[in-house]
Amino acid sequence: MKKNTVTLTDNRTGETYEYNIINASRGPSVLDIRTFFADTGMFTYDPGFTATAACDSTITFIDGTKGELRYRGIPIEELANKHSYLETCFLLLNSRLPSKEELTDFDLEIRHRAYLHRGLRKLFDAFPDNAHPMATLSAAVTSLASFYNEHLDMEDENEYLEMAHRIISKIPTIAAFAYRHFLGIPFIEPDLDLSFTKNFLTMMRAYPGGKMHLLPNGHAAIKEVEVRALDTIFTLHADHEQNASTTVVRGVASTGAHPYVAIASGIAALWGRAHGGANESVIAQLEHIGSVDNVEAFIEKAKDPNDDFRLMGFGHRVYKNFDPRAKILKKLQDELREELNLDTELMTIARKIEEIALSDEYFISRNLYPNIDFYTGIILTALQIPKSMFTPIFVIGRTVGWITQWIEFKKDETSKIARPRQLYTGE
Ligand code: CMC
Repeated sequence: MKKNTVTLTDNRTGETYEYNIINASRGPSVLDIRTFFADTGMFTYDPGFTATAACDSTITFIDGTKGELRYRGIPIEELANKHSYLETCFLLLNSRLPSKEELTDFDLEIRHRAYLHRGLRKLFDAFPDNAHPMATLSAAVTSLASFYNEHLDMEDENEYLEMAHRIISKIPTIAAFAYRHFLGIPFIEPDLDLSFTKNFLTMMRAYPGGKMHLLPNGHAAIKEVEVRALDTIFTLHADHEQNASTTVVRGVASTGAHPYVAIASGIAALWGRAHGGANESVIAQLEHIGSVDNVEAFIEKAKDPNDDFRLMGFGHRVYKNFDPRAKILKKLQDELREELNLDTELMTIARKIEEIALSDEYFISRNLYPNIDFYTGIILTALQIPKSMFTPIFVIGRTVGWITQWIEFKKDETSKIARPRQLYTGE
């Protein structure tokens, strides 16, 4: 019978070493090399962790070749089309979708926890008026740890869930306050009568007293179609297995730091343009390109090996096929085009980039497809959300994923402090 192992031979000495294969329930199996250093005196070398599984997890599954994404086994298409973001949060945290009563209770609890301590509100004044909301958001979430010190040591499931619900529900308030501070206008308190997503849009857009009069540019108060679109965007961002920011969250968890500090570190990691910051850069890039006539020249720039210019919203470490989240958003863009008055100029430029890139040898040979960030910006712009808030929107959606991964790490008895090795090449 064949053994479920891999044998490695050191060609210098002829010595052989045998390592067990651990089978995954879906996707690639892994080679268990935990004793590799003790056996051989060598480290493995894998900058950027391109072939390294740092943990086992039951939360999210991605098949990058097929372009498949599932949370707790459920395809993302099903969640985006048939379930709300809050149902998705419940699913990630509890490994199953809620019953009707459970959803009502969860929704109510999230609404009630959305308020911020007065002391925390003062923090916003310390930031310059034009502070990028991501900077304010990350700092405010670190500060939140000081208000909830009890979450440093949690014993039972209820304590874990209380900690998770608290951060999920306060993040939109913090993000909206960070934005209003950036504009220099008064904060709008959360409203218990509003759903998670409508509440966030109201805290962003309303006038003091929560009033939603017709805005000067002719946009009426929040439309249900806008709430649905944003709710879907939150669902699509809810988790993405061991991406860069989640790896940071788990790394901070491994040192025993407060969970909200781990989330704040995730926010900092997400901000970069290679990761969540790409959504802001996509729109900035489309505006810079300015016209379909300029698209070809920018594509040539992106292909030039001597130019570090990249097409924002293209490429992904895991997806070597269409990002399934991008497919859902592309469809949503088409559906909302008229209802939400989408920016057709930017959409025409984006579609032209997509068309050329998808038929160009450079992009085809490198499996570079549009990712989620390529499509979010145009929808968020139609929701009157400014570019600086695109990555905070990603944060709101992803917080549940980060905190679920944090809890999974804490409960895993095999977890260890994250401490990679190095190949020393210095003096
Ligand atoms: N435009 C032009 N060329 C690209 C691009 C791009 N957007 N992305 C990758 N390439 C090229 C890259 O130059 C390299 O070519 P070569 O083999 O000739 O050197 C090849 O494709 C492989 O790229 P890589 O940088 O080794 O791939 P990676 O897996 O390390 O990086 C990525 C993945 C997402 C950082 C990268 O594709 C990128 O920078 N994309 C633009 C930023 C972006 O859209 N980020 C959002 C990712 S999705 C949201 C999220 O989950 O965070």
